[in-house]
Amino acid sequence: MGPQISPQIIGSTFAAMTTAGKVIRCKAAVAWGLSQPLVMEEIEVAPPKEREVRIKIVATTVCHTDLYFLREKSSSEGFPAVLGHEGAGIVESVGPGVSRLKAGDRVIPLFVSQCGECRFCLHPETNHCNMNWSSQRPGKRYDVGSDTTSRMKCKGQTLLQFMGTSTFSEYTVVNETAVAKIPDSAPLDKMCLLGCGVSTGYGAAINTAKVKPGSSCAVFGLGAVGLAAVMGCKAAGATRIIAVDINEVKFEKAKLFGATEFINPRDHSKPIQQVLAGMTDGGVDFSLECTGNVDVMRSALESCVKGWGVSVVVGYTDTHDVCTRPLQLLSGRTWKGSLFGGYKSVESVPKLVDDYMANKLKLDEFVSHTLPLDSINEAFDLLVQGKSIRTVLKLSTGH
Ligand code: APR
Ligand code: ZN
Ligand code: ZN
Repeated sequence: MGPQISPQIIGSTFAAMTTAGKVIRCKAAVAWGLSQPLVMEEIEVAPPKEREVRIKIVATTVCHTDLYFLREKSSSEGFPAVLGHEGAGIVESVGPGVSRLKAGDRVIPLFVSQCGECRFCLHPETNHCNMNWSSQRPGKRYDVGSDTTSRMKCKGQTLLQFMGTSTFSEYTVVNETAVAKIPDSAPLDKMCLLGCGVSTGYGAAINTAKVKPGSSCAVFGLGAVGLAAVMGCKAAGATRIIAVDINEVKFEKAKLFGATEFINPRDHSKPIQQVLAGMTDGGVDFSLECTGNVDVMRSALESCVKGWGVSVVVGYTDTHDVCTRPLQLLSGRTWKGSLFGGYKSVESVPKLVDDYMANKLKLDEFVSHTLPLDSINEAFDLLVQGKSIRTVLKLSTGH
């Protein structure tokens, strides 16, 4: 089914001139309730309002955070929703006041905005823009960032726009401060990976941990986020990169991205932090936690060497407390967190695209499967079963 406009339906021909300013009817994978399979539905996507951009999504992928909100978090405000926050597409139309973007631009929607004007954008040390969906509505996960309402509807019901991006739809509306413009030559079925997983892990090593040449690193969890962290450690010049996962199938890929050693915590009777301390004369210089499990976060911290070790929390959870003994910090370790790899999003993502185009950044190697959007539940299953790194879902042909 191609996109159709309302009120009169014009078949499957897409033309920005005819859809601008009108409601678009298109396909989307709708999450109707907690732990329910997504359902392909025809939805209505309203035109962009002031400082918003409507994007035709060409490719998207499933990240563990989509899975987390679909299956593990009970929340009455959470459904029905359109999930998805790793996507890439083409601007269909822009709302009033948008000058930076125009119809036809290739873009990556971002779950971290960069307005360029707020206190946080003006500070060099952070990417936590105040225009972000999460900053605008603390504790809420859904809106487009400008007036906190949704542009998506299905069967008369409002659909919540997950992380301000909702990429599991042929069309979505995003705040202009959360859109990165990329070159026309960039392949969108790879660019979607920069919307979260790869940027998050890679930047966590480079920007947040600030891994140093010659250092030793441990990366916990070897999904796309962890593999990107391994790639970041290597790019920063680490000489030992110890990859830790309970699923040994992941070790082969980790080697490809630069891991030098592998450990399965289940092969050892001692806690993993003691195993790593034994391997590295007291602990690694840097550790990165990429699982979203609070016990692993603790292990990662305690795997760092006292005195100068730095541990970065990268995985997401908000249902459990994370803890350690104060002595772990008194003895000189630093515990940090990182969102979207610490990248100031709008300005940094195009630089990552340039690195990919110059063969300095791997992206193709993260793609383990390619499926049509209709097969999205299969993509979720592959992730749950640990069989995929990233499944790219293609939404339309011809790009
Ligand atoms: N110890 C080591 N590895 C673990 C453990 C553990 N206790 N538990 C899970 N893992 C591994 C899994 O085997 C898997 O390889 O962590 C990896 C997680 O990978 P994915 O499920 O593919 O997740 P990914 O999309 O990479 O996201 C990782 O970052 O964005 C966040 O919410 C996301 O918390 C998630 C994390
Ligand atoms: Zn800002
Ligand atoms: Zn993600």
